[in-house]
Amino acid sequence: MSDAVVAAVVATDAPAVHTARFHIRRLPDAPLGAEVLGLRDAADLSDADIAAIRQAWLAHDGLLVFRDVEFTPQAHVAFSRRFGPQQVHVLNQFHLSGYPEILVVSNVVENGKPIGLGDAGRDWHSDLSYKPLPSLGSMLLTRELPEEGGDTLFANMVRAYETLPADLKRIIEGRRAVHSYVYRYERLRALSTWRPPLTQAQRDAVPPVDHPVVRTHPETGKRALFANEGFTSHILGLPEDESTSVLEQLFAHSVRADNVYTHQWRPGDMLFWDNRSTIHFAPGCPDKYRRTLHRTTIEGDVPV
Ligand code: SIN
Repeated sequence: MSDAVVAAVVATDAPAVHTARFHIRRLPDAPLGAEVLGLRDAADLSDADIAAIRQAWLAHDGLLVFRDVEFTPQAHVAFSRRFGPQQVHVLNQFHLSGYPEILVVSNVVENGKPIGLGDAGRDWHSDLSYKPLPSLGSMLLTRELPEEGGDTLFANMVRAYETLPADLKRIIEGRRAVHSYVYRYERLRALSTWRPPLTQAQRDAVPPVDHPVVRTHPETGKRALFANEGFTSHILGLPEDESTSVLEQLFAHSVRADNVYTHQWRPGDMLFWDNRSTIHFAPGCPDKYRRTLHRTTIEGDVPV
């Protein structure tokens, strides 16, 4: 990426937002994202407050970092519902008890049993891109942080598309790619001990789907790359070796250092990201530390 493009990526004309309940300001020197200060609890937010949050979320490329929140699981789900219907994750053994909308992301083992998905996010992906209606966004709330590591990285997929070399843009124009939950699950399962075998019912719930490789964001109208290392297995209509080579180039381009924001978690953080225009990656933390987060996922629409 040229210096001029990097400057354009980092600069945004989205103004800071100040309301009686919260303040929103751009994250410094990041290719996406803003932080939301002052929103300890989300009860009684007006429709105008929610509209202001949604507008800022879109203006800051689909990533908001809420600081110092004190959400119960119930408040987390209630806030998430303000942005759309909730999606229930296929790994029902890792739902928070009593809250099927919450997936527990955790490396903690209690009485010999993992309390959550221990290796969630170990490759770059967009949540639930394997569904016919992929996710609009996710809300990830910290519960327990490690003393070291445990960051979450985000890449801006609108910028990834905008800065893609013209020959790659030509190859993918109008093409569709297959996204598969089982494809990714089995790959990650071979690399760690965190993943139990999928039941037949779980496999049946997530058949492969195909989506456009470039999608138009339904709210901003911007075009974004919609292919990710995690779930995208191949591009339809290309020979296998060409599909593999093109996907590798797209993945490498998407996560160039200057297109990535690394979130170092603080107690009380909750992230709200747009799965239509970002991808994310969680490299994990040393095994000796505990890391637990709760994730909700909001349903989106058919990518076009
Ligand atoms: C995820 O992929 O949703 C989990 C991310 C994380 O653990 O930071």
